[in-house]
Amino acid sequence: MDANSLGDDLARILVTEAELKTRLAELARAIEADYSADEPPLLVGVLKGAVMVMADLARELRFHAEMDWMAVSSYGASTKSSGVVRILKDLDTEIAGRDVLIVEDIIDSGLTLSWLQENLASRGARSVRICTMLRKPDAAKVEVDVAYVGFDIPTDFVVGYGLDYAERYRNLRDVAVLAEHVYAE
Ligand code: XMP
Ligand code: MG
Repeated sequence: MDANSLGDDLARILVTEAELKTRLAELARAIEADYSADEPPLLVGVLKGAVMVMADLARELRFHAEMDWMAVSSYGASTKSSGVVRILKDLDTEIAGRDVLIVEDIIDSGLTLSWLQENLASRGARSVRICTMLRKPDAAKVEVDVAYVGFDIPTDFVVGYGLDYAERYRNLRDVAVLAEHVYAE
């Protein structure tokens, strides 16, 4: 879906489809340089937001990209991450001894990702790195060591490229800030 299909739902476009694509290629080159094609990392996507970045990153990589998925939910207040995470869908893959690369759409407070990184490390993974397309540095509540970041963005709530508001806008090609009136409806 293109931004112009959305009428006045969007306040502004933050990152265009073309910018996402260019940056993703740069991240893929950095990832290729850090791993060997003989032992590529297992890509672990966090449902549902990471679907788009996973699909694009995996195809951009010049080595075999094995993919697995987790679904997690934070307990507590609905819009703010609490740091207490529940696994709704676990990995199908045994990761002991493996290099794992978590693929995320966005890091906000960092609470979800720091929990997930620790959880995967505790299963005996050889390494657990994080690749995220977006990061909100001003919203950070915990330090998370993120190896690959697409774009640092302001703390506004954003949609598109996998990110939703009430399950909508995930299929928007760009990343955009929603207009105020959409929340009010
Ligand atoms: P934390 O705060 O633990 O949470 O880093 C990250 C998760 O929160 C969701 N999130 C957003 N979802 N637009 C969204 O659609 C946003 O601007 C946004 N900020 C955080 C998202 O699920 C992410 O995985
Ligand atoms: Mg997410």
